[in-house]
Amino acid sequence: MQDLTNKVRKFCEVEFGINSETMSVSTWKKIIHERMHHCSISQPNDYWNFLQSSPEEYQALVEAVVVTESWFFRDQAAIDFLVPFIKRQTHRVRILSIPCASGEEPYSIAMTLVDSGIDPDCFHIEGIDISQIALSKAKQAIYGKNSFRGDKQKHLLAHFSKEDECYALHRDIKNLVTFNYANVCSSAFLSFPPIADVIFCRNLLIYLNKKAQVDLLTAFAHALGNDGILIVSPAEADLCRKLGWVKSPQPKLFIFQRHAVEHSKRAPVIKAIVREIPQKTSIAAKELKGLEVIQKLADEGTFQEAWKLLEKFLGREGLADPDAYFLAGVIKHACLQEELAEKYFLKALYLKPDFVEALTYLALLAERRGDDHQAQLFRSRLERSEKYVHSE
Ligand SMILES: C[S@@+](CC[C@H](N)C(=O)[O-])C[C@H]1O[C@@H](n2cnc3c(N)ncnc32)[C@H](O)[C@@H]1O
Repeated sequence: MQDLTNKVRKFCEVEFGINSETMSVSTWKKIIHERMHHCSISQPNDYWNFLQSSPEEYQALVEAVVVTESWFFRDQAAIDFLVPFIKRQTHRVRILSIPCASGEEPYSIAMTLVDSGIDPDCFHIEGIDISQIALSKAKQAIYGKNSFRGDKQKHLLAHFSKEDECYALHRDIKNLVTFNYANVCSSAFLSFPPIADVIFCRNLLIYLNKKAQVDLLTAFAHALGNDGILIVSPAEADLCRKLGWVKSPQPKLFIFQRHAVEHSKRAPVIKAIVREIPQKTSIAAKELKGLEVIQKLADEGTFQEAWKLLEKFLGREGLADPDAYFLAGVIKHACLQEELAEKYFLKALYLKPDFVEALTYLALLAERRGDDHQAQLFRSRLERSEKYVHSE
């Protein structure tokens, strides 16, 4: 039995990324024993062979191992953050809830966006999970009291109808979310993750092993590009930081942007750009040191502190330093304050008309605003500047 327990634990680690140590050995044994009993199998070897040949048993084991607990409005602050984010976008925003469990999270997002007056045509929400049981509950959208914790009476009244002891979600909200099955630790998902603007990945990474955590966050980086955002739970924030993601400066928001992933030719990532700031000879050594300190803080993702110092630096009378303004733009961009970021990039460009990195950012920001004409102007200027730089 011990041998089978070890094999099944390893199987779950490899197949669906679980960290087998999140459950005690006795819990593993209990699960395996129940599965064998359910399949009327008494010999450990027979169960092992059956598990590998039966997709139904594979799924039944998944259902026995995963924790599908979820409730409505579990992270209201993060969902509220989406409202201005979506209002700023010029395209239909694609939001993924991975994992969505029985649908409480994606439906909470849909309710909040609709209640904030956002046109449902402006976003699309997709929930993904490995549990078929949770997904079918999500598609049904009928919930018991346990899915509502805290004071959510307002939403209950507005979006649900009481049916006996349960609450049925109204069709208008239900229709805003689609649900799909996927094992997000499978090579199929990791190789082709769905493209998204926002990924909610709350309370999954904590259950995964190191390899699965790294693989999944790398896939998310591909899926989100440079501008997309990843929302995790507080317990998962440190992991994201360690893997180079940059946290939003707000203390209670665990919102991250992709950072220093080198495969894309889209906008240069914050870290790469900050590091590329040319060493200035025109400013005093003392000032250069100051800017380097700020740059290091930004590099580490401590934007609030970096900004405090930079504000002082920028406040100096007669300051005409394009690198300082560029760094201000990078920090504001990382904090998702795109209008301000643009203002600083323009100042940097004014002081240094062939500033390639500033032009790159400005072209991308104009593109995101949907201003193709302006984006094209920055891009042709960029081409000229790059030609000039390379021919020097
Ligand atoms: C605790 S729930 C989190 C639900 C929701 N995000 C929340 O925070 O309330 C964890 C979910 O992760 C899903 N899950 C675990 N491993 C998975 C995998 N490899 N692929 C997809 N979903 C997985 C489980 O089925 C379960 O529904």
